[in-house]
Amino acid sequence: MFPWAPALVALLALVAVYLSFPGLFRQRRPQEPPLDKGFIPWLGHTLAFRKNMLEFLKRMRAKHGEVFTLQLGGQYVTYVMDPLSFGSILRESRKKLDFREYAQELVLKVFGYQPTEKNNQMIHTASARYLMGDGLEELNGALLESLSLVLLGPGGSRPDNQGWQEDGLFHFCYNIVFKAGFLSLFGSTKDKEQALLQAEEMFVHFRRFDLLFPRFVYSLLRPQEWLDVNRLQQLFHRMLSVEDKEGVSVWLNYMLQQLREEGRTQAMQDKFNFMMLWASQGNTGPTSFWALLFLLKHPWALQEVRREAKEVLGEPRLEENQCFTFKFSALKQTPVLDSVMEETLRLGATPTLLRVVQEDYTLTMSNGRQYLIRRGDKIALFPYLSVHMDPDIHPEPDRFKYDRFLNPNGSRKVDFYKQGRKIHHYSMPWGFGINICPGRFFALSEMKLFILLMVTYFDLELIDANIAVPPLDPERWGFGTSQPTYDVPFRYRLKPLQ
Ligand code: HEM
Ligand SMILES: *[C@@H]1O[C@H](CO)[C@@H](O)[C@H](O)[C@H]1NC(C)=O
Repeated sequence: MFPWAPALVALLALVAVYLSFPGLFRQRRPQEPPLDKGFIPWLGHTLAFRKNMLEFLKRMRAKHGEVFTLQLGGQYVTYVMDPLSFGSILRESRKKLDFREYAQELVLKVFGYQPTEKNNQMIHTASARYLMGDGLEELNGALLESLSLVLLGPGGSRPDNQGWQEDGLFHFCYNIVFKAGFLSLFGSTKDKEQALLQAEEMFVHFRRFDLLFPRFVYSLLRPQEWLDVNRLQQLFHRMLSVEDKEGVSVWLNYMLQQLREEGRTQAMQDKFNFMMLWASQGNTGPTSFWALLFLLKHPWALQEVRREAKEVLGEPRLEENQCFTFKFSALKQTPVLDSVMEETLRLGATPTLLRVVQEDYTLTMSNGRQYLIRRGDKIALFPYLSVHMDPDIHPEPDRFKYDRFLNPNGSRKVDFYKQGRKIHHYSMPWGFGINICPGRFFALSEMKLFILLMVTYFDLELIDANIAVPPLDPERWGFGTSQPTYDVPFRYRLKPLQ
């Protein structure tokens, strides 16, 4: 009766698809970067991307050059691979390129936390006050105490903790640094034995969550794992409450106070705690692992770090029932260890840095070429590939060179070049611009303190000196510090008591 009905239905269906997936029929416009939508509608390249982001981005760069737009799960993401062109993106105002929209979605999904307009500013203010400069010195004292507690036990050193002990180096570093960081920032019960047990329990839960995290973010969990993640979230909310604890850091207290003044509920504060636990503990342990592993694999570097430590700290020995002592001014006099840390972060830190384009945007490259980027798209940097592993900036980029960030006269090296031009962002482990990691100074002094204690008070050995440095886990590209694909057995013992 209505021969045109099927055609009309088909047309309406097409319109409906178009309206619900507005990006589906997108075509490259003049002056836009190469557009690669992949073969699967909407999903685009998602599968290859999630399987191994690094290898996938290498292929895309080989195919398209330094700028390209990818379709990933209905979103369009423009990757900029030329670090000489980062400058204009880094300087761009928040009105044009913002990160909050993306961060908010993520934080809501992962932590259940609903940020308000003021939150970001509040976190950065608190961190500038209490995680840097003078505020940091107070925290360093708390850290030393926690590291002592975690490494030696509540009573300080005992003759019976002097024998060799074996552990996986990754497990050991993550466990110790997590517990010490957790106790210093989130406080502890009065009873120190109990505090240790609670910190250990927290670590076990944290690692479960940590292992599920990448696939959780990508919504790839199996039903059982979903339940597990939900259970863990509830548990963190409950366990992190700072009531009845002592020694809660001023950093955390200040932020919780602000949240209370904003009238946020107790439940929201618990979720905020969880978010801060994640931000503060997810990267320092793994980074400390890589640093110690590189030192153990490069005996000359270890010797240099020990020589430097001896110069500024002497050769400390513990007496019975004593805790570690440490001269904090030493943290400012260790250029060799500083270079080791920068080199470790160059090799191990693999974050993706994202901005959401707020209004149609013209990207100007260092060679003057201009690209149009559409409103609502994302701009992504992956500095591990485009900066850290660039052989022009860092010759033999795969190799650990402990003195890569040292000048011949022993000062910190800051001059790096690409195509003969000085480059300002020669390493970007902390992100960039207004949301650069606000905990970076604290993180560095925490990791340095841990490593200095380990190399001055302990003997350390790999069980198998020839073991290869494990590859980075391909599941974690884009998420902070990488983790190894396998653990590395080692042993340690406290040097003889005096
Ligand atoms: C090796 C250790 C660490 C690394 C590699 C690291 C790296 C990063 C990176 C890449 C970001 C995100 C930047 C972006 O999204 O563009 C970030 C954010 C953040 N980090 Fe760190 N971080 C470390 C340790 C810490 C520590 C110890 C703390 C706190 C005590 C901390 C607190 C934070 C916070 C609160 C944010 C969110 C900032 C915001 O919302 O703007 N981080 N970190
Ligand atoms: C050390 O060398 C670097 C460059 O090689 C130079 O910029 C710096 O001024 C020197 N510092 C001292 C104290 O001589």
